[in-house]
Amino acid sequence: MVEIGVIGGDGIGQEVVHAGMRVLEAAAGQEPGLELSFTEFPWGCEYYLEHGRMMPEDGLDTLAGCDAIYLGAVGWPTVPDHVSLWGLLLPIRRAFDQYVNLRPARLLQGVKSPLAAPDDLDITVVRENTEGEYSDSGGRVYRDTPHEIAVQESIFTRRGVERIIRYAFEEAESRRGLLVGATKSNGISITMPFFDEIFREISSEFPDVEASLMHADALAARLVLAPGSFDVVVGSNLFGDLLSEVTAAIAGAIGIAPSANLNPEGVYPSLFEPIHGSAPDIAGDGVANPAGAIWAGSLMLDHLGHHDTGARVLSALEETLASGTKTSDLGGSASTDEMTDSVVRRLEDNH
Ligand code: IPM
Ligand code: MN
Repeated sequence: MVEIGVIGGDGIGQEVVHAGMRVLEAAAGQEPGLELSFTEFPWGCEYYLEHGRMMPEDGLDTLAGCDAIYLGAVGWPTVPDHVSLWGLLLPIRRAFDQYVNLRPARLLQGVKSPLAAPDDLDITVVRENTEGEYSDSGGRVYRDTPHEIAVQESIFTRRGVERIIRYAFEEAESRRGLLVGATKSNGISITMPFFDEIFREISSEFPDVEASLMHADALAARLVLAPGSFDVVVGSNLFGDLLSEVTAAIAGAIGIAPSANLNPEGVYPSLFEPIHGSAPDIAGDGVANPAGAIWAGSLMLDHLGHHDTGARVLSALEETLASGTKTSDLGGSASTDEMTDSVVRRLEDNH
């Protein structure tokens, strides 16, 4: 029995994880011996308003017992974003040492890229997920005076940089053998030269990977101008965040893109989520695009070792999109349920 902890979270997060769970259940039912058990936790901004915290004090202990975590979205206008995120998603990424954030972007059939010539867009962003610019270190002094100061340190550890870069090289080795490291050592003169140095050191371990460093600003532009020239991109927490949003957008829509927060060693559970947020403007309307959550579910099955079943989920999703059954963000008119029904039906038809 595979135990999956589910945090629907806020807004459309609830709608899309429920859609994803239907698809995952249908897919698991087709693999002999695979049984998924979902346990839902009602944590998020509503929980915060009632209890003064985003999850219970022993929330992380509870999740530690799961094989994987499936998350919808965190954030709602009633709670400041830094409070909601630092109360739920970010502590999970850290406590469970989910130092790899894997964000694949592919132009799926039936989805239109906003680019005129997207050529063969198939890019995986490997984002460092536990340190870097997302540090909790710093402070504010002279509050509410004209000389108020805010300082936030970026934390780059040798261990942290080495392991994410090594993971990215391995990922590139298993794909088309191309890796670009996102740097900014022309302007950020301490941490980024350190990142570059380690990138070069590790590149000597992977003679078969064609590796180069590119400044993150130029890289962002090149992703738009020549997406076909990329295979794997590795970046710090912040650069990886920004660049993966670019790759998601050029692959058609933020609503499709998945995100795997991995603890590669499997000491702790990994977390799978769509890239998109809680979308207060459409929450509760039943029109949210479930594709990002479904693709994230496919990555979860793959991570748990059910590679074929994971691949079948992604194929059924792609066939659904190709058939024109898609939500309004993709130019269609299907509801969340209609799109999900179609994915489940295709899984059954393909079986
Ligand atoms: C993401 C999100 C989060 C991040 C936010 C909500 C803190 O943008 O998962 O990409 O920046 O990591
Ligand atoms: Mn982001």
